[in-house]
Amino acid sequence: MKKQFLDLGKQPIANGFISNGDNSDEYFFDLKVGFDDETKLVSLMEFVQLDKMFNDDYAYKASMSNTMREHFKKAAKKFKKQFDPKHILEIGSNDGVFLKNFSNTDTLAVEPCGNFSKITNEMGYKTYNEFWDLDLAKKILENHNKRDLIFSANCICHIPELEECFESISKVLSPEGVFIFEDPSLEKMIERVSYDQIYDEHAHVFSVTALNNILNKFSLSIFKVEELNVHGGSNRIYVCHSGKRKIDSSVQNLLDREHRAGLDSFDTYVNFAKEVEESKNNLIETLTKYKQQNKKIVSYGATSKSTTVFNYCNIGTDLIDYIIDTTPSKQGKLSPGKHIPIFAPEKFNSSVDIAFLGAWNFVDEICKKEKLFLDRGGVFVTHIKGNE
Ligand code: TMP
Repeated sequence: MKKQFLDLGKQPIANGFISNGDNSDEYFFDLKVGFDDETKLVSLMEFVQLDKMFNDDYAYKASMSNTMREHFKKAAKKFKKQFDPKHILEIGSNDGVFLKNFSNTDTLAVEPCGNFSKITNEMGYKTYNEFWDLDLAKKILENHNKRDLIFSANCICHIPELEECFESISKVLSPEGVFIFEDPSLEKMIERVSYDQIYDEHAHVFSVTALNNILNKFSLSIFKVEELNVHGGSNRIYVCHSGKRKIDSSVQNLLDREHRAGLDSFDTYVNFAKEVEESKNNLIETLTKYKQQNKKIVSYGATSKSTTVFNYCNIGTDLIDYIIDTTPSKQGKLSPGKHIPIFAPEKFNSSVDIAFLGAWNFVDEICKKEKLFLDRGGVFVTHIKGNE
């Protein structure tokens, strides 16, 4: 049974940027998080209806950052070398940032956001503009071979019906095939108190422990785990049909470490909730102090994560003048819930003193790019533990 441990209050759709100042039909929901005693899975208490989040206006474009383009290029090269896959499927292909590294002869894609499925279809990759479920798995099997590589990045954690998701994967995966997916790590979220990993789209935040418990129900086994720096700390999970591959020591290492960190115990999450509240108080205090010193404060990156922070901490234009973001479709709009205006990066000029790092997960790329800002005494502020 799922037991609640955290309440992040009323929240809007994290990527629901507002056009033309018209927020008359803005949707809000209660963002509450719970822990399932049986599977050890951390999930939202109530899931948001999928088509409210993933539709033809979806704003997040994976190839907007150099870090992510390089990350997927390297991943594709590695998988080709290691597994030599011929029949590939990507679930949640976004703008094709991963797919484009593969030939389009037998590479399939699944992408429910119409604006993005159009792009990959035009690139020649057969893209199903649908949500991943048992019906779609059946349709794929009627029309194509089973897949020897199924890849999914930052998407499986979006799927509320996790059991149906894994059952569908077990049907479409060839007997010797590998299913590889990467999503933010619960261990890192707890360590860094990065509660902004929690928003409507992140129906779950995964531990290896919980994934192992649920995958096993469908005779799927994790045979390797790699720890990644992207998205504030992620795990790349390698899965096969049970008994098909040797289990790497990384799996037991992670399970042991998660047990030592208490990820299988409800008390850990109760303590996390206390740290989240402290983090909120600290952030408000820091920004208020700068404001009282007449500093100009902006936010760097109109991220989904910053939607959670601003709405939970009730931070609006009283503290943050504007947000800058490289994504053209976010520019000229207002941030979800708190309605902070978003501009192109050119507005990040010499008038800015302080920048809240909404995109803290790209801290290295941003510090390199904004050396001038730092050299002239500009300060990046973050709520992330160990990153202040
Ligand atoms: P994410 O944290 O959900 O991956 O989103 C990152 C957002 O930050 C995306 O909208 C692009 C934006 N961004 C910038 O505006 N400037 C940058 O230098 C980087 C790396 C990201």
